[in-house]
Amino acid sequence: MPDNKITRRTWLKSTASVLAATAAAPIASNALLQTDAPMPGPQPNATSPSQDADRARRMKWWHEARFGMFIHWGLYSVLGRHEWVMENEGIPVAEYAPLAKQFKPKPNAARAWAKLAKQAGQKYMVMTTKHHEGFCNFDTKTTDYCAPKQGPGRDLVKEYVEAVRAEGLRVGFYYSLMDWHHPDGARCAHDEDARKRFVEYIHAHLRELLTNYGKVDVLWYDVSWPLDAAGWESERMNKMVFELQPDIIVNNRNKLPGDFSTPEQQIRAEEGGRAWESCMTLNDSWGFQKADDDWKTPKQVIRNLISCSRDTGNYLLNIGPKPDGSIPEESVAALTEVGQWMARNGESIYHSDPCQPRRSNYASFTRKGNTLYMHVHFWPGETASISGLKTSVKSAKLLASGKNVEFKQDKFRVRFTGLPAAAPDHPITTIAIECEAEPTQDTNFVRNEKPREGV
Ligand code: GLC
Repeated sequence: MPDNKITRRTWLKSTASVLAATAAAPIASNALLQTDAPMPGPQPNATSPSQDADRARRMKWWHEARFGMFIHWGLYSVLGRHEWVMENEGIPVAEYAPLAKQFKPKPNAARAWAKLAKQAGQKYMVMTTKHHEGFCNFDTKTTDYCAPKQGPGRDLVKEYVEAVRAEGLRVGFYYSLMDWHHPDGARCAHDEDARKRFVEYIHAHLRELLTNYGKVDVLWYDVSWPLDAAGWESERMNKMVFELQPDIIVNNRNKLPGDFSTPEQQIRAEEGGRAWESCMTLNDSWGFQKADDDWKTPKQVIRNLISCSRDTGNYLLNIGPKPDGSIPEESVAALTEVGQWMARNGESIYHSDPCQPRRSNYASFTRKGNTLYMHVHFWPGETASISGLKTSVKSAKLLASGKNVEFKQDKFRVRFTGLPAAAPDHPITTIAIECEAEPTQDTNFVRNEKPREGV
């Protein structure tokens, strides 16, 4: 058997454009893109070997996790018209701020989120501690515009942290730098005194968040408008973050590369082996939007999760709880079904290795070591095949039931035979294919070499 090993770098280079053309486009098209997520492309990683080693140590759990829950919850949930409602309807601060008194969630709503996340097979959670509207879900000395001093009457971030830990999951904080409420939130761009005040306000929040809640695993910055890294003093910001939480990982939305990239509403592997996490909504809104009925099916969610895992990225999937903290029924139903599938098939998703085989009209693939997982989303019937598999297959089984699958292999294909006529698992059936070496696929070989006969 020829040595078909590819390096992660070569593979990512060769597949980046395919990925962009296939996975990304259809998913992004139905989504509401309101973001200043950095344009995709190579971003520098840590420069020294000791920084690289430290990053590898901090990120180990995250690379194994693959699947997390995003939660968007704030005053906008009371209105139920998307988290950008304040800006997109031009609502004055004086009209918006009274929502803080109306926001009265039931106690410990986060417990149900954490239970659902755990049951769905998600390993970490990331909750909005402050979104663009400027309302702080946490206790802060810097403003009265925060949960304990308003309608909720208590620290919602504290409840969240306790709930996440109770399920043994990792704790993540989303924090928006952009602020539509603070008087300096826009003028900081052209008034140096305002900038200094505002940056101290933001840094103070981060200090409180990373001091008052024990160990925090992820800091997820968002929208850096209207300043750049120098304006935000992002180097000083990250330095403080790592002093307070030496094991934390941070994303790239404070205008520094951080530890991982954040493609939004699309699945796009980063070049150069850089870590990435696709964040995505379950319908088309991050915050609760009562009339948004454009829900993804469990099958779409699982296919997206497979695409992320195939290219060693994570999938951060959002829920937008209602103002009382309850989760929309459609989200509960979808995540419950995803969780049932993960309970049977999770081994093919977590801690995956880069997977080169990707050609099929009815399946997609993930890999761990020498095992190739064929995830059949359109069940072909009693026979299924993979073209151009260059590696010898040792055995195959249905992952959910453990039942052996018969197969025959020649130079051009592996044929799995004696399969049930109807798909044995739902909504996707995974065949675990144990190979002699790292599985690779070469469909050009098939096109060039498969004998042609007659006319
Ligand atoms: C965008 C949106 C924001 C959302 C975020 C999630 O930046 O502005 O509403 O929280 O994406 O990635």
